Amino acid sequence: MNISILSVFPELYKPFLSTSLVGRAVQSGLVSFHVQDFFSYSEPKERIDAPTYGPGAGMILKPEIVQKAIEDCENQRGKAFKIFFSPQGKKLDQPLARQLAQQLAGKHVMLVASRYEGMDTRVEEEYADLELSIGDYVVLGGDLPAMVFIETFLRLVPGVVGKEESVVCESFSGAFLDHPEYGPPVVWKDQEVPEILRSGHHEKIKQWRHEQAARKSIVRRFDWVRSHAGSDKDRATVARLLPAHYAALMHVDIRLPHDQIGTTSVTSLDIHDIARSACTYGIKNYFVVTPLSDQQRLVETLRSFWMSEVGIDYNPERHEAVRRVQLVAQLDDVVAAIREKEGIDPLIIATSARPVGGRAETITFNDHEKVFSHNRPVLFLFGTGRGLADVVFERCDYVLIPLEGFSEYNHLSVRSAAAVIFDRWLGTTGKREGN
Ligand SMILES: C[S@@+](CC[C@H](N)C(=O)[O-])C[C@H]1O[C@@H](n2cnc3c(N)ncnc32)[C@H](O)[C@@H]1O
Repeated sequence: MNISILSVFPELYKPFLSTSLVGRAVQSGLVSFHVQDFFSYSEPKERIDAPTYGPGAGMILKPEIVQKAIEDCENQRGKAFKIFFSPQGKKLDQPLARQLAQQLAGKHVMLVASRYEGMDTRVEEEYADLELSIGDYVVLGGDLPAMVFIETFLRLVPGVVGKEESVVCESFSGAFLDHPEYGPPVVWKDQEVPEILRSGHHEKIKQWRHEQAARKSIVRRFDWVRSHAGSDKDRATVARLLPAHYAALMHVDIRLPHDQIGTTSVTSLDIHDIARSACTYGIKNYFVVTPLSDQQRLVETLRSFWMSEVGIDYNPERHEAVRRVQLVAQLDDVVAAIREKEGIDPLIIATSARPVGGRAETITFNDHEKVFSHNRPVLFLFGTGRGLADVVFERCDYVLIPLEGFSEYNHLSVRSAAAVIFDRWLGTTGKREGN
């Protein structure tokens, strides 16, 4: 492996390239580095940077300096795959690192580390085979990103890390983060190493580690899990370990004009469609909440058809969805039913088409960790008519931001909103294995 680095500060690389596993990889001949100084391509006393065009005080590397450095490097060491570092580039993650480790094995790779305001766009367009970002933040220059890339990349080069297993079973290599690690002493600050790890029972330890890793990943990085748990096994693990989710459609405690609170009528479409969405996203029960006896009779009639032999025969999938519909009179009944099943009250998350003030904290669709770390069942509340009344928001733990697009129109039906919310909160975002 042959890695060239073009930099404004080549001295930064001396200790880095001679220390620890990177240094050992160089000594053992697995990789060779060649660091080139952009200043070698300027005339004496010539600056290598110039002010950018347009307002602002930015400086960038001169294109002709970068051109000379790249051409000289390729003349000396052969054609290279050129990686430019930029916060605007493709984000480096473990799957991309693995792909690059395969694609670039044994090749000449050139890392171009910029400074100042970055690179002249024309230079990137002309030379970059890949623009790479190390994350959604901006550091002073491309040297730390180059070093981050080198460490990530080299550990995937066979022979660089002693035990191959260390780079196979680790965070971001599959659907889950790495499992928790413990070492001696057995008791430290009154905390004991879990007994199972000292049992010597390898198969049980493996299972325990998998379970711990999956649990932690679901709470901390549901964004990663939902896009990488594509195998049947991982999907089943996530389904088993996700907090139990419930939904309720409120036809009581609904906002009316002049600060009144009232009820609304049920609709068969909302019962069917929300039940089907709920079933699709693994919602355990969907409660229809109405205290009105005539409305209750309607729900019962519809439900009993789908629970009857005729209904099951007619459309078994619809039966499967409507089976989860539970009719109750008040929100208290919903909470009590969940408490009875789960042994603990649910966290209540209200939904609303408009921003809501008040006691409950507003959360976004990226706040899984906040919600999941409570380790409690989750109940989504949907309003009908003009939306949930303030008395309902007052007893919720969180309120979800309103669903919105980049338009000023915002009149989703509750069944559409429920489907979108279930998908944004619980839906997978990656490929399923075999698809
Ligand atoms: C101060 S930054 C320029 C940032 C640029 N003005 C922007 O906002 O996109 C200077 C150089 O640091 C490097 N750099 C900074 N943050 C980076 C990141 N997150 N990933 C990769 N390179 C980065 C790049 O080489 C970049 O050209």
